[in-house]
Amino acid sequence: MIALGADHGGYLLKAAIKKYLDSRKIEYTDFGTNDETSVDYAPIASKVAHLIADGKAEKGILCCGTGIGMSIAANKVKGIRAAVCATAYCAEITRHHNNANILCLGGRVIDEEQAVEFTRLFLDTPFDGGRHQRRIEEIAAIENGEL
Ligand code: RB5
Repeated sequence: MIALGADHGGYLLKAAIKKYLDSRKIEYTDFGTNDETSVDYAPIASKVAHLIADGKAEKGILCCGTGIGMSIAANKVKGIRAAVCATAYCAEITRHHNNANILCLGGRVIDEEQAVEFTRLFLDTPFDGGRHQRRIEEIAAIENGEL
């Protein structure tokens, strides 16, 4: 199950991503928003991030104007590795190297076609492990105050 969230700057990307997930019959939970009325991104990021951290969703996708606010907020939750991606290369490599569990996208940065392509890469690319496993363990050590 994929957790989705957006603010008014990202809801159109989220709508395109939902259509794509529907076409692949991938289940999701949508925490809104669904129109251009201004809303704050942090509470939405928190809902998506906690669902993943609690093991109730496998991955998440968060969309705001830039993807940046969503990623900063989501990364405050322990166990979350949220990556802002503005290129297909980043969407792919953040799975291979960072084992990112949330993809953050900017509705004022990329278009809907790119959002769907980055979503495909994010969902279908495996984590490489190996030296990258050690590196994400070092990130966890920072979270735990050990590094
Ligand atoms: C909202 O105007 C905007 O600040 C938000 O969507 C996002 O870009 C924040 O990082």
